[in-house]
Amino acid sequence: MKIAMIGTGYVGLVSGTCFAEFGINVTCVDIDKDKIKRLKKGEVPIYEPGLEDLLERQIKSGRINFTTDLKSAVADADAVFIAVGTPPRVEDGHADLTYVHEAARQVAQAMTGYTVIVTKSTVPVGTAREVEKTIREANPNGDFDVASNPEFLREGAAVNDFMRPDRVIVGTSSERAQKVLQEVYRPLFLNETPIVFTTRESAEIIKYAANAFLATKITFINEIANLCEKANGDVQTVARALGLDGRISPKFLHAGPGYGGSCFPKDTLALAQTGQLLDARQTLVEAVVESNANRQRAMAQKIIDAFGGDVNGKRIGILGTAFKPNTDDVRESPSLVIIPILQEAGADISAYDPAAIEQTKRYITAVDWKKDPYAVADKADALVIITEWNEFRALDLRKISEILKEKRLIDLRNIYKPSEMEALGFHYVSIGRPEVKGQKAVLKEVSAG
Ligand code: UDX
Repeated sequence: MKIAMIGTGYVGLVSGTCFAEFGINVTCVDIDKDKIKRLKKGEVPIYEPGLEDLLERQIKSGRINFTTDLKSAVADADAVFIAVGTPPRVEDGHADLTYVHEAARQVAQAMTGYTVIVTKSTVPVGTAREVEKTIREANPNGDFDVASNPEFLREGAAVNDFMRPDRVIVGTSSERAQKVLQEVYRPLFLNETPIVFTTRESAEIIKYAANAFLATKITFINEIANLCEKANGDVQTVARALGLDGRISPKFLHAGPGYGGSCFPKDTLALAQTGQLLDARQTLVEAVVESNANRQRAMAQKIIDAFGGDVNGKRIGILGTAFKPNTDDVRESPSLVIIPILQEAGADISAYDPAAIEQTKRYITAVDWKKDPYAVADKADALVIITEWNEFRALDLRKISEILKEKRLIDLRNIYKPSEMEALGFHYVSIGRPEVKGQKAVLKEVSAG
């Protein structure tokens, strides 16, 4: 079995490397010469735990190759996966399919013998059909099928997600294509991973529906957190109790500063666009998109409110700029919305992230970058946790409280307990939980003494 993977971005690289681990001969193709050169040496251009070791093993085994020559990679491949980027179009947020169709045209010219072309990038419903048209036009006599096989990889857990998926979705009505893809996913078949064979259209919709559902779940609990704040509830308890209902499940019910990343924001927007285009408006998803954008901005206001409404001249220390832990990705991260609003309001920002500093610098300037959380806290008027990296979960809070100029901690991920923060005399602001006023805590200590 031989496959070609077009595009060595996040999805292509992880999938290609994992397919090689399955025992398949994989050739990864990219137009970026420099990237291919680095990949050949085993250098992984993205931050993804476990990927570099796996790649090194596959390079040694000879099962994975990298090239810029699409033609040679595709010529003798049984299946060709298209995993190129589908960024949102600036004008309307619709997924830009230019790269997908360009890849399809090149594959059409290069393929020999029966070939299954698989769309792996997240693409709007109807794309596999369009890709088939593109290929047919470019190579009217070609022997091929186009199938849809969306991925569900989470950044930071992508290798594990690929190797142990909850399910694999294969969209095709061709038996020949089904056989080839069954062979590609043989190791997963053997360990009884549910494999859903369906039409291409359903496969394409499944991917968007899954991401939009998860984004909706997060947005739901974020709005419930707002209610808790007004009505003296505790969103942690509410979420836990909701999650105990087997029909709801506890996952993706963590209230926070709003979802970010390269998938949820892009895919919710694209689904809303498709709904409008096909006259089946996704009003719920439209509301989720709006609510999440408002939320990221509201988080900046929450920080300003913790100062009584004015942060001019204040030094605010930020912990975490990545959109979530275990990644250096800052795309659509709440930090990119929050930090500029605080700067605009006159605050001086110092910050630290275990992996994403260089990436953040591409989007945000005038930040005083520090080497660790304590340097960020030193003489700051407040410390703000935006990303729940593990190393922020066990801070020496006593030390932090001593080096902060003002004992103010705004925890946008609820990683600390209000009672502990109260005991330490912090003015502690978190999400969907009663606020702890440091002053009161100190007074209590005094009166107790
Ligand atoms: C997501 C999907 O999980 C994956 O299946 C898909 O293929 C790509 O998009 P990813 O973008 O890597 O993966 O991140 P994920 O772990 O899903 O988190 C997305 C965002 O939601 C992050 O900003 C995270 O902080 C936020 N989130 C997640 C919450 O705010 N609360 C939660 O309970 C869960």
